[in-house]
Amino acid sequence: MSSSLSEQSRTFIQKAKAYWTPERLQKITAGHKYHVLPTNAPLLLRALGLLNKDASMSADATRKFIQVNHLLTQFRPYLEELNKRHGQVRVLDAGCGSSFLTFLLAWAYQEVWKHPHLIIGVDSNETLITKNSHTAHDMGVSDAVKFFTSSIADTDWQKIMSGEQAIEVNSDSKKLRPHAVVALHACDTATDDAIALGIKLKADFIAVAPCCQAELAKKWREFADLGVNNPLKPAYHNPHLRRELASHLTDLARVLILRGHGYEVTTTEFTMSHATPKNTLILATRRGNFLKAAQQEYQDLVTWMGGCDISLAAKAPFTES
Ligand SMILES: C[S@@+](CC[C@H](N)C(=O)[O-])C[C@H]1O[C@@H](n2cnc3c(N)ncnc32)[C@H](O)[C@@H]1O
Repeated sequence: MSSSLSEQSRTFIQKAKAYWTPERLQKITAGHKYHVLPTNAPLLLRALGLLNKDASMSADATRKFIQVNHLLTQFRPYLEELNKRHGQVRVLDAGCGSSFLTFLLAWAYQEVWKHPHLIIGVDSNETLITKNSHTAHDMGVSDAVKFFTSSIADTDWQKIMSGEQAIEVNSDSKKLRPHAVVALHACDTATDDAIALGIKLKADFIAVAPCCQAELAKKWREFADLGVNNPLKPAYHNPHLRRELASHLTDLARVLILRGHGYEVTTTEFTMSHATPKNTLILATRRGNFLKAAQQEYQDLVTWMGGCDISLAAKAPFTES
């Protein structure tokens, strides 16, 4: 961490060092080899609200602590790949909220990978953005972690990169694309905005954990009122199944659109399944060649769903691949 740490942050680091004896560590890790520990990441865990003032950790926080480590394990191979390819890795966290992923990645870049990086968090909530900037300062990472208030769709990456908003760059800003665009639980179609932005900016890696996928479910409710007849009709009239099925089909449509744009896509569980019902993680790596077959599969899916497409199709048209 940076030498410009405040006295308060330094005191907390000392407190954590004294508190976390090997016995206490063993209790929370249960013998697992976690990267993030209260001993090597006290300021991060404090910023995430997982360490108390006295550096102790509650039982509830221990569960989240395990999830944080799990998340880093999931992102690690993708980001390490980017580290090999790029001298400075640039990450955009779209809809960063309180920025637990932003800060986790900032910590990993500084303490684990020791690789030059620039992490940008964007959110429409100005209060959170201001708070995050203070947290970045307290953690000593404010040189490489910046926050901006903006909707995801309106995020002007080139403007951010060209220093209009205080980042100094001295190379051609057009070349300074983000290498990774991540969006965790950005609400409803904000996830599509993040995917569309990643595709438009040709990000090497796009990772989204969608939530409250309401778009298709809303259309299907209209279909129910209109008496539309197709194989999904029974689901139109069953609110719970309608929501669940629409949510998974929305994610399937996103996968096909990403594949259609030349991304190799994996889906997995975001975290241990009991932790959140919003548990899908879509991981996409740009391979460059857009895939006609996946584009056709998307069209076939839309036809099968009675002509219902998702807004991502218009936000990231295949014609622009
Ligand atoms: C459920 S929170 C998740 C925050 C964070 N990514 C996380 O996983 O903890 C969703 C965040 O997305 C932001 N958000 C939702 N729609 C957005 C949009 N269109 N543009 C920018 N931010 C948006 C909200 O302000 C909120 O902070």
